[in-house]
Amino acid sequence: MTGSLPKLPFPNDRFSLVLCNHFLFLYQDQFDYRFHLDAIEELIRVMKKGGTICIYPLVGFKDERYPFIDQLIERLNQHVKVTETKTNFRFLPSATHYLRIDK
Ligand SMILES: C[S@@+](CC[C@H](N)C(=O)[O-])C[C@H]1O[C@@H](n2cnc3c(N)ncnc32)[C@H](O)[C@@H]1O
Repeated sequence: MTGSLPKLPFPNDRFSLVLCNHFLFLYQDQFDYRFHLDAIEELIRVMKKGGTICIYPLVGFKDERYPFIDQLIERLNQHVKVTETKTNFRFLPSATHYLRIDK
């Protein structure tokens, strides 16, 4: 089954692991803050309680950190646990972290 953020064709609480790789934050020039927030809320919706979402990278193609990441984390932390987590994996030199979200 295929779908497109920010609306996915899956029921609530369906997955225990959600991986979002090289899409959110990377195309930050093309998608606004509202899109990023709605897309991540949708990933949270389809994730089971006790599950985890990993989103990588947190930078765009110009190697720049997503400028609204702190605002986004503060907002999401109101109902899930969000951690900016270090990784040894490198896509771009500054892509040192991923976003871990625990529901
Ligand atoms: C750079 S590719 C990354 C593909 C794969 N995740 C990887 O790391 O190899 C970006 C992907 O985002 C997908 N994409 C574009 N718009 C999307 C949307 N609104 N919702 C979900 N995926 C989307 C594209 O189809 C494409 O496969």
